[in-house]
Amino acid sequence: MKVLVVGSGGREHGLSWKIAQSPLVDGVFCAPGNGGIAEDAICVDIPAEDIGSLLKFVKDNAIELTVVGPEAPLVAGIVDAFRAESLAIFGPDKRGAQLEGSKSFAKEVMQKASIPTAACGVFTDADKARAYVREACFPTVVKADGLAAGKGVIVTSCADEACSAIDEILVEKAFGSAGASIVVEERLVGEEASFIAICDGEHIVPLASSQDHKPAYDGDLGPNTGGMGAYSPAPVLDENAYGRVLDTILYPLVRVLRERGITYKGVLYAGLMMTQTGPYVLEFNARMGDPETQPLLMRLKSDIVPVLYETAKGGSIRNMELAWEDGPSVCVVMASGGYPGPYEKGKVISGLGDAGKIDGVKVFHAGTRIRDNQVVTSGGRVLGVTAVGGDLKAAIDKAYRAVSLISFDGAHYRKDIGHKGLRRFT
Ligand code: AMP
Ligand code: GLY
Repeated sequence: MKVLVVGSGGREHGLSWKIAQSPLVDGVFCAPGNGGIAEDAICVDIPAEDIGSLLKFVKDNAIELTVVGPEAPLVAGIVDAFRAESLAIFGPDKRGAQLEGSKSFAKEVMQKASIPTAACGVFTDADKARAYVREACFPTVVKADGLAAGKGVIVTSCADEACSAIDEILVEKAFGSAGASIVVEERLVGEEASFIAICDGEHIVPLASSQDHKPAYDGDLGPNTGGMGAYSPAPVLDENAYGRVLDTILYPLVRVLRERGITYKGVLYAGLMMTQTGPYVLEFNARMGDPETQPLLMRLKSDIVPVLYETAKGGSIRNMELAWEDGPSVCVVMASGGYPGPYEKGKVISGLGDAGKIDGVKVFHAGTRIRDNQVVTSGGRVLGVTAVGGDLKAAIDKAYRAVSLISFDGAHYRKDIGHKGLRRFT
C-alpha cells in the first residue's frame, strides 16, 4: 500500500522511516516533509494544515493510509474530512482531538473519569482567577486553554507570579484566542514521564515508556522547549506504574469519551507527573510525542503499519501487541542557536554522513531543508540524533559520539539527556 505521513518534524521523520520498512508498504509520501525525510519518503509540497489539498493528493495518488503527525490538523478536523470520503486516516476526529485542543475539556473529562490530575479552576474572568490563586494554599500553574504551540503553560512559584501570568494570558492576550479562557491548577512535584498508546476506540495497545527533557539547558534549567531529547524506556515508569496508568488513566478515559459519543481512534499520549502517590496527568496529547517518537521507533521491533491501518479503517486492535528491543534508546536534539527564542536559519550542517554510519545510530531531521545540494537548518529543533545501545549508558555514549561528529554554526544541545534514568540504576 501507499502511505502518506502528514507533518515536517523529527516525529514525522521517525514515522516515515519506520513505515518505509514495512513489507506491506510500497511507497511512503510525506507532506511537507523536510531535508532528511526526503531520504526515506517522497516529500510533497503541501502544508500540514491544507486539508483540501491533502485530500486531493490522497485521492489522486490512491493513498490507502494517511498518518497525521502534528496536532493542528487533527484539531482543525482533517480526520472528519477524510472519513467523510471513506479514506483511512490515523488520528482522532475533531471532537476527540479536543483532548489536546482544549485543556478545560481534558480536565472536565478527567474529573468525570476520576483520573488523578491536579486540582484546578477554569476562568475567563481575570479577577476571579486572581482570587482563586490568592485563596489557593498551593503554588499554581497557569495554562492557556487552547493550542499555543507548546508555549501556553506558565509554571509559577507564588501568587504574585500567578497573577502576572493570568494578566499575560487573559488581559494582554499573549496567546490570542487560545488564551480566551485559562486553566489554573495546582503545581505538582515529581519526575515527568510520557505514556503513549494507540487506541481503536475501545482497546489500547501501549507503546514502551519514555521520558522527554523539556527545559532548554542541562539540569532542567532555562525556558521550556518542544523537547530537547528523550529516551526509552523510562525507569521512573516501572511495571507497576505502567499498569496503573492503563487501569486508572487510559481505560477510564476511553470509557468516558465513549459515553460522550466520542469513539477515540488514534494516539493517546498522557504527559505524566510521577508523584509520591502515583502517576498524575499533566496533559493529554492527541498525537505522538516529539522527540519521544524517535527513540521509541528505534526500539520498536514490530511492523507499525498493521496497528495504524486497523485503527485508521475502524478495525479492532484487540489482539495486537508491539515488541521492543531490550536495549534502551536515546535521542539528543541539536537545536539552532537562540532556540527556543529567535534563531537564524540556513546554517550548513556537516558530519551527517559520518554520524549516520555508526552502527545503531539514526539521525532524524526536524528543522532542515536541502539548499544547493547541502543540508541546511530551517527550524528551531534541527536534528534528533538517536542511538540504541546494550544499556542506557551505552546508548547515551553512542548518541553523543554521533552528535560530536555533526556541526553547524550556533548548534546547541543538552549534555545530560538520559541522566535521570542513569541515576535510577546507581
Ligand atoms: P503541559 O503542556 O500541560 O504538559 O505543560 C507543559 C509543562 O509544564 C509540563 O511538561 C510540566 O513541566 C509543566 N507543568 C504543567 N502542568 C503542571 C503542573 N500541574 N505541575 C507542575 N508542572 C506542570
Ligand atoms: N515532547 C512533548 C510533546 O510532544 O508534546
